[in-house]
Amino acid sequence: FFSPSCKVLKPDFFFFSLSSMNSSRPKCVDEVAFQEEVVAVLKKSLEGADLPNLLFYGPPGTGKTSTILAAARELYGPELYRQRVLELNASDERGIQVVRDKVKNFAQLTVAGTRPDGKSCPPFKIIILDEADSMTAPAQAALRRTMEKESRTTRFCLICNYISRIIEPLTSRCSKFRFKPLANQIQEERLLEICEKENLKYTKESIAALVRVSEGDLRKAITFLQSAARLNVDKEITDCAVIEIAGVVPDKMIDNLLQICFRGTFEKLEVAVRNMVDEGYAATQILTQLHECVIEQDLSDKQKSTITEKMAVVCKCLSDGADEYLQLLSLCSVIMQEASHN
Ligand SMILES: Nc1ncnc2c1ncn2[C@@H]1O[C@H](COP(=O)(O)OP(=O)(O)OP(=O)(O)O)[C@@H](O)[C@H]1O
Ligand SMILES: [Mg+2]
Repeated sequence: FFSPSCKVLKPDFFFFSLSSMNSSRPKCVDEVAFQEEVVAVLKKSLEGADLPNLLFYGPPGTGKTSTILAAARELYGPELYRQRVLELNASDERGIQVVRDKVKNFAQLTVAGTRPDGKSCPPFKIIILDEADSMTAPAQAALRRTMEKESRTTRFCLICNYISRIIEPLTSRCSKFRFKPLANQIQEERLLEICEKENLKYTKESIAALVRVSEGDLRKAITFLQSAARLNVDKEITDCAVIEIAGVVPDKMIDNLLQICFRGTFEKLEVAVRNMVDEGYAATQILTQLHECVIEQDLSDKQKSTITEKMAVVCKCLSDGADEYLQLLSLCSVIMQEASHN
């Protein structure tokens, strides 16, 4: 991998990978696409209005972290940023002790309403608690008092994927904003913009494929684009390359598997499942695609609900580290049993 002739290490790849990842993060709130409500609130505070405590939640890669970082940078400018913004994410220790010491101490500092360059800036600091759903409940509870007591000088911005993992007393102290999965059109525009800036050759189908496989997660789409560009130096990026990189199972294979469930024998089923696992397709990916297909099959509601219930169990087992082959086989067996009632 580290040999000098290895294509992946060509300097221009490094250039591409670094530049696209950093430059794709919106620099100002205006560049944040598709999240109009939160952008409107942040723009008001950029014009001098007060800012509430914020809680951003929603699926990955929809702009939560980018939005607050851009807003903080615009509010304070590069110099004040370090003094005024405390940013903690899941890679930092955020147990109760850190909340008591670091967060509380930072929150207690008082601040002025002007920047060193004379421009005015908000008379408060911002504490960003990214990935807050991984904070323990006691640590969250410890935030309650601090949030109230220091409300004169500090605003909190909590960010998470799952709002149900934030304790109620905290959610009720914040203005909540849900970040939506990005619309296909918006993702397409961003991807095209990046392709233009990076001088990539691409087909229309490849962009459509990127949008399809990333399901509203723009970060995922950009990362796939990056990998595809690395694989296809000086060549056009094709939809096949994208699908290959995303690890999507070809539709034909899924169809084949279902046909065996419906009409084949258990022996054939075993072989088919074994082949798919041996080919390296992720069981969770196969599960997702099977789910999409089963929903559209000509089965009764009762049969579909039995199958999807089994899917939920398999999904949980897989995330707990169960054997992929056995789990898939057990799911397919249920599909087979249900189909045999037809
Ligand atoms: N609404 C958006 N507007 C513009 N770019 C976006 C948007 N959402 C995501 N992106 C792109 O995706 C990348 C990742 O976004 P970001 O880190 O803000 O996601 P996130 O919502 O914080 O995800 P996670 O929940 O995984 O932390 C950004 O660098 C940016 O290029
Ligand atoms: Mg984030």
